[in-house]
Amino acid sequence: VASSIDIAVVGAGVVGCAVAYELTRRGGSVQLVDERPVGMGATQASAGVLAPYIEARAEGPLLDLTARSLALFDEFVAGVAAASGSRVEYRRTGTLDVAMQPETMKQFGGLAALLAKRGVEAEMVDAQAARSLEPHLAADVVGGLLIPSHGFVAASELTQALAVAARRLGAQVSDSGHVCRIRRSGDSLIVETSRGNLAAGRVVLAAGSWTGQIDVDGSERRVPVRPVRGQLLHLSWNGAMLNRVTWSERCYLVPWGDGTLLVGATVEEAGFNERTTVAGVRDLIEAASELVPHVWTAGFVSARVGLRPCTPDELPVIGPSACLPGLLYATGHYRNGVLLAPLTAKLVADAILDDRIDPVMEATLPQRFGKL
Ligand code: GLY
Repeated sequence: VASSIDIAVVGAGVVGCAVAYELTRRGGSVQLVDERPVGMGATQASAGVLAPYIEARAEGPLLDLTARSLALFDEFVAGVAAASGSRVEYRRTGTLDVAMQPETMKQFGGLAALLAKRGVEAEMVDAQAARSLEPHLAADVVGGLLIPSHGFVAASELTQALAVAARRLGAQVSDSGHVCRIRRSGDSLIVETSRGNLAAGRVVLAAGSWTGQIDVDGSERRVPVRPVRGQLLHLSWNGAMLNRVTWSERCYLVPWGDGTLLVGATVEEAGFNERTTVAGVRDLIEAASELVPHVWTAGFVSARVGLRPCTPDELPVIGPSACLPGLLYATGHYRNGVLLAPLTAKLVADAILDDRIDPVMEATLPQRFGKL
């Protein structure tokens, strides 16, 4: 059955590429379409941080989804690297979540207790221990929470490798023009684009912040995904690098193997405006240098910007449409598109190829937002 399936994946960001790769790897016949080159939406701005226990600090579906996806990462990256013949930087350096105020240590205590219950290694450290882990930290830090299983992956390298691997396994990757509408015609779904139409048995909508701009026949409303802008700095570093992803309330720092540092990220309601701003760059420099004063000596490489696809409950939309049979959504991953890519790909492939709806998808089904 699988090899005869014909699936169009709309959106070539990290989620669309992961879905295309997984479907192809498991025997699907896939066409990946986007009007931009691979990985040019929110993906290209991502720092690739893999930190479920920072992004989701309480029990709930986001913690379940992100923790489950992190557990897939070793095998996922190894498989993609082998299938593409590419190198993908991926390091489980751990994170140090730094407290600048005593009250933050109390919150860390609560999180450490939750992690202990889940059997996740985590260690509260005082100011002296934090500074011995990360000697560049400011003198006035109060302490921190060390979570060794966290890490980061080069989001763009990973996404390119996913597209190369999917292509090598038989997927087609095409510049389709702008995707406007999905409708049914007989046994097929038609993807209407500014360059013409495409017919497929199934369609996966993975267009991130732009998903809501695509008309879906039979749907009373559009998927409620809105763009939340994130700006990020890329800096060159002098001297000894940070040892791990270092996080504070105002920013996070990611030390790359090539001696550069990423500083993320602003969280802004700016519509579809994909521009960097003086205010965004200033805020990030201030936040980063408050945490690590040595940032003042860094070189400025670039500022990046991306639009995170955010839903009203900040959970992704993964699952079949109830209005247009054959259509599935894989979008709305907000701050965790890279982290959730392996699990999303698996859930979508299980649903399409094996007709299996994983219980975790109860929290991600599109119908929680109405008739979609
Ligand atoms: N995942 C971090 C961010 O979206 O800024």
